[in-house]
Amino acid sequence: MKRILVTGSLGQIGSELVNHMRKIYGTDNVIATDIRRPENNEVVLGGPFEELDVLNASKMAEVAKKYDVDTIVHLAALLSAVAEAKPVLAWQINMGGLFNALEVARELNCKFFTPSSIGAFGESTPKDNTPQDTIQRPGTMYGVTKVSGELLCDYYFKKFGVDTRGVRFPGLISYVAPPGGGTTDYAVDIYYKALQEKSYTSFIAEGTYMDMMYMPDALNAIVTLLEADPSKLKHRNAFNITAMSFEPSQIAGEIKKHIPEFKMSYDVDPVRQAIANSWPNSIDCTAAKEEWGFKAQYDLPSMTKDMLEKLKIKLNIK
Ligand code: SER
Repeated sequence: MKRILVTGSLGQIGSELVNHMRKIYGTDNVIATDIRRPENNEVVLGGPFEELDVLNASKMAEVAKKYDVDTIVHLAALLSAVAEAKPVLAWQINMGGLFNALEVARELNCKFFTPSSIGAFGESTPKDNTPQDTIQRPGTMYGVTKVSGELLCDYYFKKFGVDTRGVRFPGLISYVAPPGGGTTDYAVDIYYKALQEKSYTSFIAEGTYMDMMYMPDALNAIVTLLEADPSKLKHRNAFNITAMSFEPSQIAGEIKKHIPEFKMSYDVDPVRQAIANSWPNSIDCTAAKEEWGFKAQYDLPSMTKDMLEKLKIKLNIK
């Protein structure tokens, strides 16, 4: 029986992954944890929930033992723009939390998943069709922690036999969790503003291509990789995955098909633009397809249609 501990359960991915996994594996088999416990929250109320700061190693081990978990999904981390504003804290949380989670996985012999990111690439990485195995010299603290995390997960597999697995997520787009300090967040924000104000001012410049993915595809990818036959995994950690690559005027154009009066303008944030410039335009995910059958369902038109429909309901817009 699978019993899964999820850290950072109230973050961008966790807010949806916990419910998704509870439907697949059973409510009581997914133990959600987060540093905060808000009231009236679906993740908190919908099944087992424990308050957990990932920097508290002994509490993490205690929770994992209490529920007898055999799988850890470690999501707690600071995203790129926040990490650039608070680099010391980002190192502490992103690396300290990962180290503690890997240690619990080692002690309790758990399967382990943690996300890396397109942020693990940098200026000197080939920008188009970025290979699975390539130059990784990121210039941001977020990127530094993501590359270090990939290496640490590889090490725990090779040295201790911990069954570590992971993907490099592109920008994730969702109508559930509000944007939380990422560089790709403009592509979430834009849908809210399109519905609420019929206009959006992008902090990312026209022409800046980045990889993106709609959240349902990201959730499927996590479950598929966790279920994959380990003998087929040559890379294990940090598989490139993507569903689409676009730049701001393309997402605006797609929104205009549904909201013709929508207007886009630009007020570029130099910090986030520099981060975006250092990331690939589009990554190659052949290894993920070949080794565990990665597949994305949503492209820009189908995601836009679904996002606008779901957000209209959420925001109560007629
Ligand atoms: N979407 C993330 C960010 O922008 C990248 O992993 O920070």
